[in-house]
Amino acid sequence: MSNNGLEGPIPIDFCRVQFLLILDLSNNNISGSLPSCFGPRHIIHVHLSKNRLEGSLTTQFCKSSSLVTLDLSDNQLSGNIPDCINMLSELSYLILKNNNLEGKIPCQLCKLQKLSLIDLSQNHLSGHIPSCLNLTTDEQYNEDSNQINSTPVAGTTFILLFRDTLSLGEPVHFTTKNMAYSYEGRLLTYMSGIDLSCNKLIGEIPYEIGHLSKIHVLNLSHNFLVGGIPSTFSNLTQIESLDLSYNNLSGKIPPELVELNFLSTFSLAYNNLSGKTPARIRQFATFDGSCYQGNPLLCGEPMKSCSTRSPPPMIQEGPTQGKEDDGFIDMGVFYVSLIVSYIMVLMTIAAVLYINPYWRRAWFYYTEMCFISSYYFIVDHLSKS
Ligand SMILES: *[C@@H]1O[C@H](CO)[C@@H](O)[C@H](O)[C@H]1NC(C)=O
Ligand SMILES: *[C@@H]1O[C@H](CO)[C@@H](O)[C@H](O)[C@H]1NC(C)=O
Ligand SMILES: *[C@@H]1O[C@H](CO)[C@@H](O)[C@H](O)[C@H]1NC(C)=O
Ligand SMILES: *[C@@H]1O[C@H](CO)[C@@H](O)[C@H](O)[C@H]1NC(C)=O
Ligand SMILES: *[C@@H]1O[C@H](CO)[C@@H](O)[C@H](O)[C@H]1NC(C)=O
Ligand SMILES: *[C@@H]1O[C@H](CO)[C@@H](O)[C@H](O)[C@H]1NC(C)=O
Repeated sequence: MSNNGLEGPIPIDFCRVQFLLILDLSNNNISGSLPSCFGPRHIIHVHLSKNRLEGSLTTQFCKSSSLVTLDLSDNQLSGNIPDCINMLSELSYLILKNNNLEGKIPCQLCKLQKLSLIDLSQNHLSGHIPSCLNLTTDEQYNEDSNQINSTPVAGTTFILLFRDTLSLGEPVHFTTKNMAYSYEGRLLTYMSGIDLSCNKLIGEIPYEIGHLSKIHVLNLSHNFLVGGIPSTFSNLTQIESLDLSYNNLSGKIPPELVELNFLSTFSLAYNNLSGKTPARIRQFATFDGSCYQGNPLLCGEPMKSCSTRSPPPMIQEGPTQGKEDDGFIDMGVFYVSLIVSYIMVLMTIAAVLYINPYWRRAWFYYTEMCFISSYYFIVDHLSKS
């Protein structure tokens, strides 16, 4: 019943609906809180986004162990993310964007082995980013569903059936590359990412995030994160969109980041990073100054040059000159091409003089004039002194 003008609270009678598999009331005008007795055992997809739901999430979904999609985005839900979330062993898509949730991100999230998309952006979450966060990948997911297939148990048939018909529910909206895209059906199963932007998260970015090598999107912008960018991020080989802007990150940018070959949207703007920007090669050749702006201590292309403001790093680079940097021209190649073009010019002049008698005469006349005038010039000066 999505995209209607339904008003009022979710009726308490919903608590008696035992075999509900999909609940889709998104984009209505539903208010009030989720009844605490609500908790359909077999439910698979819940889409309640874009309503006016308020109150806190308590134990409503804790017994729904088949839940795959929980999309409660764009409501006014408050309170903590319940600890009992670790009971939702099938949960793949957790979308709680744009609510008033507070407290810490519970470590219980790490127990969810099927999770592939976490969007907790635009809330009031505080504390550290749990270092144990782990997302699954489409390959692992497919393996797992094959395993369920081989041991059919009453009930799991439904789960399989509805996992394959994800498109029955609303599409899930997820922001990547600065745009909100909607994902549904099979496409959703290939999407993997974490969006914790616009919260009050503190502490350092756990280096373990760099081991989530299959994620496509990571957005930690608009928080209060400190410390450095972990060099393990060079292992995020599938990442397409990486946003760490508007934090308080410091230290150097790991130069290994240039190894991220799928990166198309990247921002480190408005932090306190220092040192040199990564070499402008591969994907990094496409990023302009806006992804580094607001870091006054940062230098190198496409920002201000490092030599003018901070000479010490240039001196340090002296001993390593033997190692050729990908960003610069190979000096051997440069000299060879210089000599080759010099010889080419000489030969062209000779050929032209050989073919055209008029120019030949003009050329010899001109060189003779030059020779004579410079001869007398030198003789004049020598005789004066
Ligand atoms: C939603 O309901 C409130 C009152 O319950 C009303 O003021 C508001 O106009 C409604 N919004 C829409 C989009 O229908
Ligand atoms: C990261 O999140 C912020 C706020 O939610 C959003 O404005 C920005 O576009 C996102 N970045 C990317 C690269 O999608
Ligand atoms: C994430 O989970 C997978 C499978 O459950 C495991 O192989 C992998 O080592 C875990 N990664 C991290 C960083 O914990
Ligand atoms: C990237 O991952 C590989 C294998 O998991 C590991 O050996 C290597 O140390 C990692 N690199 C970084 C910079 O963490
Ligand atoms: C950033 O972190 C430094 C310490 O690392 C602290 O002194 C400063 O107040 C922080 N700035 C903001 C805006 O949080
Ligand atoms: C930025 O980092 C430098 C050290 O790298 C520190 O001295 C300075 O206080 C930091 N500025 C802010 C605003 O945190």
